[in-house]
Amino acid sequence: MGLSDLGAGLLRRLDAETAHGLAIRALQIAPLPTPAPDDPVLRTSVAGLSLPNPVGLAAGLDKNGEALGGLGRLGFGFVECGSVTPLAQPGNQKPRLFRLSEDRAVINRMGFNNLGLEAFAARLERRPRSVVVGANLGANKDTEDKAADYVSGLRRLRGLSDYVTVNVSSPNTPGLRALQGRAALDDLLGRLNEARGGDRTPVFLKIAPDLSGDEVGLIVEASLDHAIDALIVSNTTLDRPGTLRSAHRAEAGGLSGAPLKARAAAALQAAAEASSGRLPLIAVGGIDSGAEAYARIRAGACAVQLYSALIYEGPGLVGRMKRELAARLRADGFSSVAEAASAAR
Ligand code: FNR
Repeated sequence: MGLSDLGAGLLRRLDAETAHGLAIRALQIAPLPTPAPDDPVLRTSVAGLSLPNPVGLAAGLDKNGEALGGLGRLGFGFVECGSVTPLAQPGNQKPRLFRLSEDRAVINRMGFNNLGLEAFAARLERRPRSVVVGANLGANKDTEDKAADYVSGLRRLRGLSDYVTVNVSSPNTPGLRALQGRAALDDLLGRLNEARGGDRTPVFLKIAPDLSGDEVGLIVEASLDHAIDALIVSNTTLDRPGTLRSAHRAEAGGLSGAPLKARAAAALQAAAEASSGRLPLIAVGGIDSGAEAYARIRAGACAVQLYSALIYEGPGLVGRMKRELAARLRADGFSSVAEAASAAR
């Protein structure tokens, strides 16, 4: 066990949100070594964006883009910060973050607590160039025209991140998930495309796992119509599988971690079928091993992201996943992640 995994063990004894704050602080100040270069078999690309490896950090851990250097040194191939909303907002009342340890899961109803777009932009201006960084956009709780908030985010962050994610799938902001319906999505994506103008920074759309196959199909078509560059599948679920054992299982919010695996994989499958290789896919939800990352890549994802497994496994997980993934790719005769993902089609 490395020192950082020991630290993760200690953090698990604290209440979830205190531990989170301490982890961000530690990542800001700890003198982490630069990770070894990645095995070339792990190289991949998403919508023209080259990644040294396909294992990314999902949004929500570094909401304000405060620890990007430290997170990059954990070995992630890309790091997504946010969600950021135009105005700073406190989020929901605490407690709002729950570890379901028996279930290797998390429930959160944070409600987009963040320092707002200006502070976020200032952080990104000073960001380390050694890691690929995505900026995940959300909408303020009190904004009526939610699409306008995404347009503001896109305009303000132009040139500051390697890609932008439009998050219409957090369950903790009333009305947000309604943006996944075809009419609302056409309006949102049309306005975003107009705001992009000639700027070709890739824009990704992050969707919920709680959608039917038909709904996913409509989202894929709308995304292609409006020049979205990739889909991130998926956010947390409102579902509560009957297998959950933790006393926190009835808490309101989005469920992530191991019990999300099947649902997120099914949503990925639906997106892969609907897009037949026309839209790059990034898999998220319950990914906790090289084997699971490999399974999602074989299902058509060109990269993966994770969050909850990091809480249970500690930061050593990233290196373990990369080693296992490289071994599986080689064992199956693939020379790259991209080749394995496209073999799914
Ligand atoms: C999240 N997630 C998230 N997603 C997003 O797009 N914007 C956000 O602000 C947040 N915030 C957030 C906070 C917390 C505490 C958690 C646990 C999760 C969702 C996250 O990015 C991811 O999609 C899901 O957690 C599923 O992946 P894992 O956790 O099962 O690997």
